[in-house]
Amino acid sequence: MSYANHPGIKANENNIPKHVAIIMDGNGRWAKARGFSRTKGHQKGVEIVKEVIKYCQENGIQVLTLFAFGVENWKRPSKEVRNLFRLFFLVLRKDLVNLNENNIQLRIIGDKTAFNRALKTAIQDAEILTQQNTGLVLNIAVNYSGRWDLINAIQKVLKRTSEKSEISEAQLNQELSLFGLPEPDLFIRTGGVQRISNFILWELAYTELYFTKTLWPDFTKAEWDNALADFALRERRFGLTGEQLG
Ligand code: IPE
Ligand code: IPE
Ligand code: MG
Repeated sequence: MSYANHPGIKANENNIPKHVAIIMDGNGRWAKARGFSRTKGHQKGVEIVKEVIKYCQENGIQVLTLFAFGVENWKRPSKEVRNLFRLFFLVLRKDLVNLNENNIQLRIIGDKTAFNRALKTAIQDAEILTQQNTGLVLNIAVNYSGRWDLINAIQKVLKRTSEKSEISEAQLNQELSLFGLPEPDLFIRTGGVQRISNFILWELAYTELYFTKTLWPDFTKAEWDNALADFALRERRFGLTGEQLG
């Protein structure tokens, strides 16, 4: 049961997360249940992304980080992988003007070295066009892996520093994909499974976790509100006692 629906418990509506990170899971099952191709499920998933961006803007969320394609997803049938990348490319091209008009700053996080030239160019164009925008920061994780991000950061730190035995948290932090942004306050995973699947690891250290059985293409405004209301009731202690928090 969600706390948000508990009679008598009223959510503190001002307790809004600054940064929400989402694993958008369940596109395949949603499509299968309808006799559609998995790609159709991913297309529907993109529509939900556009809705969720609007909810973030309405709620004053500052950062939204979405897991679109993980390093492990290369193991899927090649047709699905191709279709996913085609969809990503089309969305980048087609929706860029709209994202920019909405003052959204778009960042693609992940290992981009594997992408073809056209995709690299589309990503670069999108990031350059929107980099001065002051509204929602939208991070899309593509060919991303939390472990990759950490290894990549460690390698960069090692290259820079002479004192290799002393790597500090701050040094490592500086080289991670999400550097400069507040850490996620709220993590949402749809689709019924409760795992992190090699999404951001370092920055989730103190994130509040929220899981829902709802498949991503069925994720509605009511679901979103529920996740935020649930978050608003969490007591974030960061190691302190309840009494210390007062
Ligand atoms: C998540 O949905 C989207 C991606 C991984 C790209 P899935 O495709 O994993 O959907 P299920 O889990 O098979 O239902
Ligand atoms: C995680 O979803 C990756 C994305 C949503 C992009 P998966 O559906 O691939 O995760 P697992 O393999 O079931 O853990
Ligand atoms: Mg899945």
